[in-house]
Amino acid sequence: MANSQANLALQALEWYVENGVDEVLSDAPVNRTVMPDLPKREETRPAAANVQTNTPEFLGAAEAKVEALKLAQGAKTLEELADAIRTFDALSIKKTATNMVFSDGNPQAKVMLVGEAPGADEDRQGKPFVGASGQLLDVILSHIGLSRTEENPDKAIYISNILNWRPPGNRTPSPAEIEISQAFIERHIELIQPKVLILCGGVSAKALLGKSEGITKLRGQFQTFKPLVLPSDINIPCIATYHPAYLLRTPAQKGKVWADMLLLKEKLQELGINEG
Ligand code: URA
Repeated sequence: MANSQANLALQALEWYVENGVDEVLSDAPVNRTVMPDLPKREETRPAAANVQTNTPEFLGAAEAKVEALKLAQGAKTLEELADAIRTFDALSIKKTATNMVFSDGNPQAKVMLVGEAPGADEDRQGKPFVGASGQLLDVILSHIGLSRTEENPDKAIYISNILNWRPPGNRTPSPAEIEISQAFIERHIELIQPKVLILCGGVSAKALLGKSEGITKLRGQFQTFKPLVLPSDINIPCIATYHPAYLLRTPAQKGKVWADMLLLKEKLQELGINEG
């Protein structure tokens, strides 16, 4: 009897692993099919004494967007922006993440790349694009003479993501998470002031271009990034391309990314950057 229960448990575990459920979110199981007794709205707000340091975590999406915009606009440096994101509690993905993932590379770089969201490796190390897709990304960038460890701003790259916290189980970021985080990434770009932006993958391209078309339509041509929520008059040439995680699954599309990188190289030469 004990043996058959152990076998059942083992089979269930194998099934979870095969389906990508590789993470535990809490110590006790939660039956999410049962509706909880929801407290009244006033009761969901933390007592004033608990709110001194961080954003209240029970803001609605609209209030959270306003709060994020206020914090983003108030950040005068990268350090202040990182601190603002760290103390902003209205995104529940912060609770399940291990580390905040802010950026990597050279902040003086003329080229900035924006990906989607941290995965498991990035969450563990607190740096963007350090897993398998990051390794492929480094190889792609090296072919056009760019590196995140380079000191020369003309040959360097600076990397961040739309979200700074890993969505549990690497799920796709929700529209609300993207909308709430938009002000932070727009201010991040404004502080870096890159000459050219790479929008890496569909989530990044759609969010920063404010378009609903998929990445297949958005890639392959230079467009202009203009902040959508931040009051700012910057506009930066940008190119969207396929995400390296997609290339790992679909290597036949590598040629398209290569074509995008050649367009990028041409643009850099036009701007007198990295001409070697
Ligand atoms: N994918 C992303 O979009 N960003 C990362 O940092 C890692 C994987």
